[in-house]
Amino acid sequence: MDIILDKTTENVMAELEKTQKEFWNIARETGVMLNMFIKMMNAQNVLEIGTSNGYSGLWLSKALKKTGGHLTTIEFYEKRQSIAIENFKTCGFDDIITPLQGSAIMILENLPEDKKFDFVFIDANKQEYIKYFNLIKPHLTSKCMITADNILSHAQKVQPFVDAISEDDEFQYEILNLPAGLLVAYRG
Ligand SMILES: C[S@@+](CC[C@H](N)C(=O)[O-])C[C@H]1O[C@@H](n2cnc3c(N)ncnc32)[C@H](O)[C@@H]1O
Repeated sequence: MDIILDKTTENVMAELEKTQKEFWNIARETGVMLNMFIKMMNAQNVLEIGTSNGYSGLWLSKALKKTGGHLTTIEFYEKRQSIAIENFKTCGFDDIITPLQGSAIMILENLPEDKKFDFVFIDANKQEYIKYFNLIKPHLTSKCMITADNILSHAQKVQPFVDAISEDDEFQYEILNLPAGLLVAYRG
């Protein structure tokens, strides 16, 4: 059963890679890296900001099936979100995913106080990264990882976020030289 599920996921991912530019998906290498980080962290509650058609969500969920964790993923556009939901269903991940539709800032502002995440992947509006960071901070577990894409490809837009991370003594971080540049910050 597991093998069949994996084959289905691989096939869906291979199809999605054909339209990678159209849906602004992460590179496969970035997906593999996120997948490994979740398993290494044994992450239980993952937040993704920027679902698109669900490509990165599949990499995250694939790891969460192993850790027994859950993914909450936010997307502004209903049409993209419904494609993502279909992809999650096809791969059998819909039972561990909560897709939220709307403005990330509004959703983050209204999270229940006790909602906590141990792993965050940021990949939505580049200029808003700093706002996402400030809004998710109260919702992070003491040991946690924050990852964010497009750090090299959109360096200027994400600079306030990178500055905030680098000035935060609780986090150590590195920017990985993956296709768009992946920031990885760790507290623990
Ligand atoms: C780079 S794409 C995400 C790609 C996805 N992470 C993947 O690799 O498969 C960014 C997505 O974030 C969504 N987005 C942009 N600004 C947003 C906002 N303020 N709130 C929610 N979603 C937003 C866009 O509609 C777009 O689908």
